[in-house]
Amino acid sequence: MHLYLDSAVPEEVEKMAALGIIDGVTTNPTLATKAGATYKEAVQKILSLVEDNVSLEVLSTDSQSMIREGQDLAKLSDKVIVKLPTTADGLKALRALSTSGIRTNMTLVFSANQALLVAKLGAYIVSPFVGRLDDIGQTGIDVIGEIRRIYDNYNFQTKILFASVRSPLHVKQAALLGADIATCPYDVLEKLVKHPLTDVGLKKFLDDFGASGQDPLV
Ligand code: G3P
Repeated sequence: MHLYLDSAVPEEVEKMAALGIIDGVTTNPTLATKAGATYKEAVQKILSLVEDNVSLEVLSTDSQSMIREGQDLAKLSDKVIVKLPTTADGLKALRALSTSGIRTNMTLVFSANQALLVAKLGAYIVSPFVGRLDDIGQTGIDVIGEIRRIYDNYNFQTKILFASVRSPLHVKQAALLGADIATCPYDVLEKLVKHPLTDVGLKKFLDDFGASGQDPLV
């Protein structure tokens, strides 16, 4: 499963890219406002830091403007995946952009039927927002399981991206359910490596060896 960082902050991308654990970055207009410097500068920096898969979201809402904006975003770099909202206009833009070979990420997906439509139209990625479904008392991961089954039934190649990740548990659920990608906030990625027993165990190993008074091997 690929892991993306959900952030527009270049410093966060730099740290996770240095760890070697991220395969891409997703941004959205909310995250863009937290970019630090200007969003444009942040995006240029992020494009220079990651090898591929940088999702950038359009800000227009009518199909013709979305198509123009998507084409311009795609010109920034081959690494760009154009993020479009899953509305009727978004579907029209998806069709036009995917026909011209531009990779798309269909965002704000909350149902299996939305995911079915975007796969039929050739979306590269579908982004169901699991955390936001949990927020309203639904079981967000059910949608991931449903989409996985539908895509497998019909051999759709659209990648399922588990979005709106709130915890390490969500990342494990994404992997168990067969999501192709999980996009995570910085703090969730940080937590994935941590386990208190790892720290306790390491301290004990080193204390025990120190107490033995022996010389290290090398
Ligand atoms: O990738 C989508 C994500 O940014 C939304 O997350 O936490 O705002 O629901 P959240």
